[in-house]
Amino acid sequence: MENPFGEATCRQLAGLLLTRYDREGRDLPWRRTRDPYRIWLAEIMLQQTGVKTVLPYYAGFLERFPTIQALAEGELEEVLSLWQGLGYYRRARHLHATARHVVRELGGRFPDTCEAMGRLPGIGPSTAGAILAIAFGQHQAILDGNVKRVLARVLALAMPPDTTVGKRTLWEQARRLTPRERPGDYAQAIMDLGATVCTLRQPLCPSCPWQGYCAAQREGCPEAYPVRLAQAPKPRKYQFQALVTRPDGRVLLLPKRDATLLGGLWHPPGDEPGLSAVPPEAEAVRRHLAEGLGIQVATPCPLDAVAHTFTHFHLTVFPFLCPWRAGEPPEASGGRWIDWRQDRRTPLATLHRKVLARLSESPATPALEA
Ligand code: ADE
Repeated sequence: MENPFGEATCRQLAGLLLTRYDREGRDLPWRRTRDPYRIWLAEIMLQQTGVKTVLPYYAGFLERFPTIQALAEGELEEVLSLWQGLGYYRRARHLHATARHVVRELGGRFPDTCEAMGRLPGIGPSTAGAILAIAFGQHQAILDGNVKRVLARVLALAMPPDTTVGKRTLWEQARRLTPRERPGDYAQAIMDLGATVCTLRQPLCPSCPWQGYCAAQREGCPEAYPVRLAQAPKPRKYQFQALVTRPDGRVLLLPKRDATLLGGLWHPPGDEPGLSAVPPEAEAVRRHLAEGLGIQVATPCPLDAVAHTFTHFHLTVFPFLCPWRAGEPPEASGGRWIDWRQDRRTPLATLHRKVLARLSESPATPALEA
């Protein structure tokens, strides 16, 4: 069984980490503010995404939505368009819903308890802890992916962090280690440690302020932690997408109106992802457009497939170039002809930008009219 550190050792460990943070902590824009809105936004963007990727999105988002009131008044589609390329779009939908809730129901002020904070869409216990510690100086622990890895190594945790016992052990240790003084700086310091020193591969143990205390390092193989559950392999799914092009280069896109994967974003028409690895015949694509949308096209021409990986499955898209001949999408479909290269306001997932980019790679794409 893991040997949790005693109180004195916890204080020592926190002190060592804070000393490193004071000397070498990264200078990041969300560390120059105590505004809960700006800190909340950073924590949501940093879920599942690294600092380097987040920085330009964070700046652009705040330029457009400098306050939670501005965000609450904005439209979801604009929020999603600022989020394009950052992935995990559910975060953006939750962000918008939370902003509206906080402004309309809570007078524009974030709740200041873990329970109330954790009830807001998109805020789990670790994000709630981070916001409360960083923005409000509360004594709250965090346990995001990076911190799980650091603590699993320090303790040489014998079980995967996401098992019931693993979670309980790590939360308990995270709470014991969090100091009463400067809990927000400590939270950011341990996240920095996980991101820059105690990395998934090739951790930089000689630079680690906790090296003398780390059980995994003593065992000589820090990369063996966290212990992983045997992973079920992700299935691969397949779908076709029809790139219906007008002579002026515009393409037919449809809005995804539900709140499932990529909900709120736009995509080319096609079938639902399924398990058949065989691309459809051109005639089936033509019929799909005619029967589903009343759109007539010239013979669809297959383009190179595009592969993409989501959290729970791999996806292969078979794009078809379909020169438009006649017909308009029915009102109810919400379909629009979009100049997707110029129009940054229509939110598109990276996957669909990759699929659309096949158009420029194809010699079959007609040259644009002047
Ligand atoms: N990851 C999550 N929150 C973070 C923060 N405040 N600073 C750096 N990395 C983070």
